[in-house]
Amino acid sequence: MWGAATSSHQVEGNNVNNDWWQWEQNGKVKERSGSACDHWNRYREDFRIAKSLNHNAHRFSLEWSRIEPHEGQFNDAAIIHYREVIESLRSLGLEPVVTLHHFTLPVWLSQKGGWLFEGAPDLFARYVRKVVEELGEHVRYWITLNEPVAYVFKGYLMGEWPPGEKSYEKTLKALSHLLKGHVLAYDSIKEVNRKLKRSSAQVGIAKHVLIFTPCSPKSWKDRLSVSLRNAMFNHLFIKALIRGRIFYPGLFRIRLPKAKTLDFIGLNYYTRDFVHNEGFQIPAIFGDICTLKHHRNVGKRNFLSWEIYPQGLYQLVKEFSQYKLPLLITENGVCIEHDAERFEFVKSHLIQLTRAMKEGAKVIGYLYWSLLDNYEWAEGYGPRFGLIEVDYETQSRKIRDSGKQFAEICRSGQISGEE
Ligand code: FCB
Repeated sequence: MWGAATSSHQVEGNNVNNDWWQWEQNGKVKERSGSACDHWNRYREDFRIAKSLNHNAHRFSLEWSRIEPHEGQFNDAAIIHYREVIESLRSLGLEPVVTLHHFTLPVWLSQKGGWLFEGAPDLFARYVRKVVEELGEHVRYWITLNEPVAYVFKGYLMGEWPPGEKSYEKTLKALSHLLKGHVLAYDSIKEVNRKLKRSSAQVGIAKHVLIFTPCSPKSWKDRLSVSLRNAMFNHLFIKALIRGRIFYPGLFRIRLPKAKTLDFIGLNYYTRDFVHNEGFQIPAIFGDICTLKHHRNVGKRNFLSWEIYPQGLYQLVKEFSQYKLPLLITENGVCIEHDAERFEFVKSHLIQLTRAMKEGAKVIGYLYWSLLDNYEWAEGYGPRFGLIEVDYETQSRKIRDSGKQFAEICRSGQISGEE
C-alpha cells in the first residue's frame, strides 16, 4: 500500500462534541481547530487529489463523537457520511485503512472520566461493533487505537492534552483500559464479520515508536534507561497483545485473553530521543519517561525540533520483525519550511525501509503523514506536514512538489536509483 494518513479531528473541522474541542474552547492551547481543513465537506476533492498522486491506500479516522454524540444514541447521518467516505475511496481504487480512535473522545464519555472510567472499554467495544456492522463491508484494515502509549503519556502523565491529568497511577489505569478496549474491539470486529459472513478483516494498532539513544554511551545508567524505555514505550503494549499477558507493576490486574489479538502492527515513526538518567526513582526503574531528561536537539531537525533520523526506521522495522506479523508504516512524515526537504525526508526513510525489507522484514505499506496540512493538536496550525498545502482562509489546496515526487514512487514502486 502506498498513500497517506489523516485523522478526523485534525482535518474534518467542527468536531464540537469531543473532548479536544472542549479543551480548545477552555483556552488550553494556543490555537483552536475551528474548521480545520473542512475535510468533512471536501473529502471527495481530497481523495481525488490522492488518486491523482497515485496513492492506492488512505488512512483516516472515524470520529466517535459524531457517530455516538450521546451515550447509546448513534447518529445515522454520521454513519451515512462515513459510508460515503469509504465508498468514495473504494471507487477511486484506494484501500481504506480505518482508525477507530485517534486521540478524541465524545464529551459524554470524557465527563464519565474518559479512559479512567471502568466501563470505557465496553463502551468503546459497543461503538466499534456498531461501526463494523454498519461500515465494515468494505473495510479490510482496522486500526483500533492510535498511539495508546503516547496518548496516555500526553494526556494522563504530562497533562498537556485532555483530560490534563498528571498522575502515574492514572496513566497506568488509562493504559490498562486501552489494552482491554483493544481486546474487546478486536473480538467484536472478528465476531461481527463472522456473523455477517464477510471475509475476515485485519486488525492492528498504530504504535508510536521512537529510537532511544543514551546521552552518554559510556554511562551504564543511561544505557539501562534506554533499554527500559525501549521496552516500556515501544514494546510493552504490543507484547501484551501478542502474548496475552503483561509484566508491569500496576497492570497485573488486567486479564488479557491468552490469545494473540493483533493481525498486523502499524508503526508511526518520526524521530529519536536522547536519554539521560538523572538517578533512580521508582518509576524510573521501570522506564517511566518523567524522571529522565530527554531531548531531540541534535542534527537536522524539523519545524518542531524533532531530529530527522532515517536510520531509525530501519532499526525499528528490524526490531519489530521479531513479532512475525506484517508491518504497516501508518505514519511517517515531516513538517518543514522548505518543501524540497520533505521529499528528501521521504526518500531517505524509504531507502532505510527498503534496506530492512531486503533483509526479510515484511512491510505491507507506507502511509505518509499527512495527506493535508492540518491541525497539529497543541501545536496548532504552525507545523505543516502535508503533501498538499492548505490555505486555511480559502480552503484551497495546492499539491506540493514533494507530493508530486512521492507520486512517482507510488507509481513505480521504486525510489530513483534503488530497486
Ligand atoms: C502523531 C499523531 C498524528 C500527528 C503526528 C504528527 O503522533 O498520531 O495525529 O499529530 O504525530
